[in-house]
Amino acid sequence: MSTNNPLDPLFDFIRFQSVSADSNYAPQVAACAQWLKDRFAAMGLEAVTYPTAGHPVVMARNTPRPDRKTVLIYGHYDVQPADPVAEWTGKPFEPRVENGLIYARGIADNKGQILAHVLGVEKTLREKGELPVNIIFLVEGEEEIGSPNLEKFLNDHREELRPDVIIISDTSMVAPGVPSLDYGLRGVLAMEVKMYGAGTDLHSGSFGGIAPNPAMLLARLLATLHDENFRVAVPGFYDSVVPVQDWEREEWARLPNCGEEDYKQVIKARALFGEAGYSAVERLWARPTAEVNGIGGGYQGLGSKTVIPREAFAKLTFRLVPNQTPEEIDAKVRAHLEKYCPPEVRLEISHGHGGAPFLCDPHGTYSLAAARAAKRTWGRDLARIRGGGSIPILDTFKRILGVDILLLGLANPGCSAHAPDENFPLKNFEDGIRFNGVLLEELASDQ
Ligand code: BES
Ligand code: MN
Repeated sequence: MSTNNPLDPLFDFIRFQSVSADSNYAPQVAACAQWLKDRFAAMGLEAVTYPTAGHPVVMARNTPRPDRKTVLIYGHYDVQPADPVAEWTGKPFEPRVENGLIYARGIADNKGQILAHVLGVEKTLREKGELPVNIIFLVEGEEEIGSPNLEKFLNDHREELRPDVIIISDTSMVAPGVPSLDYGLRGVLAMEVKMYGAGTDLHSGSFGGIAPNPAMLLARLLATLHDENFRVAVPGFYDSVVPVQDWEREEWARLPNCGEEDYKQVIKARALFGEAGYSAVERLWARPTAEVNGIGGGYQGLGSKTVIPREAFAKLTFRLVPNQTPEEIDAKVRAHLEKYCPPEVRLEISHGHGGAPFLCDPHGTYSLAAARAAKRTWGRDLARIRGGGSIPILDTFKRILGVDILLLGLANPGCSAHAPDENFPLKNFEDGIRFNGVLLEELASDQ
């Protein structure tokens, strides 16, 4: 049964439908954690699955030695829901390889990268019998829902977790084959808005013209979030935004694959859209946004139905940049929505998850070690970039563990994370395994 084909464990890992957002999948999430723990144990690491108030955390380590640096590799084994399943070419949890790309839910976010690190460590242990560092794997099952229980876990285990540096490969490369260090990520704030009108759904002939219509009034309310230049119109929204530094603007302008045309091809839209006055890459990496992620209410079935819905809802997220905080933006957005909500309807706003933005110095000594490892793996210089997505726990890592964090992405920009046909190149998986070996060597040799 056991072969040395690295795709076998990868595909086993992928087949677990470890969707953290939907409690129907909880048994699959738990089974995935158990599988990972067993894999760590089989390669000789001390591995534990820790239950939390939500999904388990898997931790694994070699026997620590005081003369070695301690490297913590963080990632997540949970995945986003596969919906809309009908839009996939194959089955989301049955990996498919075509033209050098592996397609599956979670392959690029974050199972492919995590398993590359696992197999990299396994390979070094097999070939050399030892690692150059004390390794700690910390793989959680709630990243895609905002890591609600990880802060408590880190506090409870902070004495065992004393890393010198944290490695994360849950970001993207700027272009295929270009190793990339993300020194900043946006934060996120989620909220759900519900609007209620009449006490029940109504006949739109009998009552149209006198009844408040939440589907229409919610659309108008949401439209007040932006002005005509697509700037967020919430008062004070930009107050604490730190402007892009000159060196960043210069360096970003030289990056491959970051022009308007490049992004247009990746997203397959007619044209890009967004806040006037900023380049695409600035809007993605250094400007905050307000987005509607889902909207509903009223009749959704076939044909038409003459009805005035009694309620409507929208799911919103805001991407945040330094120094905005989820708390600050939550208060400002809430006040804005309440102010513009017409008195004929009732508004209910519920808090979702939040995560602070992240920014660090990309010129530290560990970054230099990472650059050497990248050069040895890809034969190219490490690009310094930021990312538009969020890893909510980063800020907590910084506060509780107080160490350098290196975000070294392995996915391609067109990986379709969170979307149908999510994909990850076989080559990136193999490169990731090699990269892990040289990265640990370079980090170990650092002063
Ligand atoms: N891997 C992403 C984060 C990411 C995406 C970083 C793109 C850089 C570029 C991560 O798994 C993710 O998707 N996080 C969520 C967090 C949220 C659900 C709290 C996100 O950003 O939407
Ligand atoms: Mn991820």
